[in-house]
Amino acid sequence: MSAPPQHLVAALDLGSTKVTALIAEASGDARDPGAKILGLGVERTGGIRRGVVRDIEETTRAVAKAMKDAQRMAGVEVGTVYCGVAGEHVAGRSSHGMVSVTGDEIRTSDVARVNDMASNVSFARDHELLHAIPQEYLIDQQAGVNEPIGMTGSRLEAEVYLVTVLSSAMQNLRKCVERAGYQVGEFVLEPLAASLAVLTADERELGCAIVELGGGSTNVSVFHNGKIRHTGSLLMAGGHVTADIVHGLQVTQQDAERLKERYGAAYEPLVPESDMVELPSTPGQGARIAPRRMLAHIMHARLGEILEHAGYEITRAGYQQRLPAGVILTGGGALTPGIVELAREVLAMPARVGVPGQRLRGLADSVESPRMAVPAGLVLYGAGQEAQSGFGHRAGRAPAFDKLITPVKRWLQEFF
Ligand SMILES: Nc1ncnc2c1ncn2[C@@H]1O[C@H](COP(=O)(O)OP(=O)(O)OP(=O)(O)O)[C@@H](O)[C@H]1O
Ligand SMILES: [Mg+2]
Repeated sequence: MSAPPQHLVAALDLGSTKVTALIAEASGDARDPGAKILGLGVERTGGIRRGVVRDIEETTRAVAKAMKDAQRMAGVEVGTVYCGVAGEHVAGRSSHGMVSVTGDEIRTSDVARVNDMASNVSFARDHELLHAIPQEYLIDQQAGVNEPIGMTGSRLEAEVYLVTVLSSAMQNLRKCVERAGYQVGEFVLEPLAASLAVLTADERELGCAIVELGGGSTNVSVFHNGKIRHTGSLLMAGGHVTADIVHGLQVTQQDAERLKERYGAAYEPLVPESDMVELPSTPGQGARIAPRRMLAHIMHARLGEILEHAGYEITRAGYQQRLPAGVILTGGGALTPGIVELAREVLAMPARVGVPGQRLRGLADSVESPRMAVPAGLVLYGAGQEAQSGFGHRAGRAPAFDKLITPVKRWLQEFF
């Protein structure tokens, strides 16, 4: 019999169309985390809309079911999960901090102090800090320092990217997870998680955007010089594509979903003119067939509009024509055939679909879909955190040590 898995990490992605639970065994180290996928559970639900709980009972049910399925597949039980956060209530901005260095050289405590200064700003009402990600440091006004510890200087400045979220939105997510019988170990910004699962180090360095085409919202995040630089959420997403099909082809929402997944296409010219699709119909409507191009036409128009807005978001962030590695498409919408061709045309950038795979072992094929970018990224994030903390409470570690490193842990993580 093989040894029981050690250092388990579990992730929950609470989406507008489904809850995904993923359980893995952490490996690697903080800079290069890995995960062996052990179990997956996916439960359809409408309990959440754009990252905000609409129905607590329903969401709790879906969380419990997805977690149960994942645990059964993995053959283990978990208590704590890394939980994704996204939606319009998430805001990101850069902040600046400055301190004078007390000793001969810059120490961990100086870095913690300058990071604290930068994040000690007032947030929008009812918002709280989710992540504070150091972007770069300046020593005596010299920019471009990544790792200031050990260097000499008298004035230390930090640029920090602050991500804030609506407190009540997060509390309600936590409530659902707790009612289902689990604890939230940490909330993680979904695009940050996705980036770990789908971006190469070169893409992150050169500059690229992740466009997550979800059901309720489309997330646009920009990465440049190795760090996240912008995150934004668009209201238009897969649900709008479905609604257009409902109106255009006179079918129910459920049938529109099915047509989209089975025969959908995002780039009309790719569909042969002779392709025909049988449309579900009511007795009164009688048997109906339609050219598949008609379906493609509807989807092409709406997905094109969504990508156009993603382009505006990139421009607004100041990264127009500054992302040589192009756009990486994730989320359910990225499964649409022709989406890469459409994205290349609309955004005038290189494009590809982002599929988790790197750093994953075990049942990695079960998350080989752009729809799994967030949960796969969450277990990788979790693996990094576990490694950072020395894989939990190993024998010989004094608990006080944990307490001591916790406040600076976030700052030291070089993940992003
Ligand atoms: N094979 C497919 N082809 C085209 N579209 C698809 C396919 N599979 C799923 N989708 C679409 O992807 C969307 C769901 O994507 P995803 O699972 O990433 O969203 P979510 O995480 O539930 O929602 P959100 O992140 O917006 O809260 C739906 O609109 C669905 O119709
Ligand atoms: Mg999602």
